[in-house]
Amino acid sequence: MKVSIQFFGILAAIAAVTVTSAAIAGDAGNGKQLAERWCQSCHAISANQPMAVTEAPPFATIARKPGFDESKVAAFLLEPHPKMPPLGLSREAASDLAAFIAGQK
Ligand code: HEC
Repeated sequence: MKVSIQFFGILAAIAAVTVTSAAIAGDAGNGKQLAERWCQSCHAISANQPMAVTEAPPFATIARKPGFDESKVAAFLLEPHPKMPPLGLSREAASDLAAFIAGQK
């Protein structure tokens, strides 16, 4: 029950972001919440956190890659890709996540 309440809280947050800031750059704070919910089971989403799945690069590593580009990561997250489950992220959620990842350098 607790989980589903939190889940709906996130949906509400996403909806709020969608309505209020359609084309504005990602919100890293919201991205952190999304990452905790959806990405942390595989990726180390912040420094000092052990990697959950060895194959999945920590977000800090992704952010430090040469040529890292927040908008490319956001676009990447909208496409299904091997080894990661299809996440069905909204455009806003993807840019929030990308903004959060960018902050992990
Ligand atoms: C089921 C495990 C799993 C989950 C959940 C997952 N990932 Fe991944 N992710 C991976 C793996 C494994 C790779 C490496 C893919 C490869 O090397 O082909 C990867 C790769 C990536 C990359 C590309 C890294 C690069 O080297 O360019 C990004 C960005 C990324 N994940 C972001 C996310 C975000 C954001 C979430 C949450 C919304 C997420 N992932 C959830 C397993 C996962």
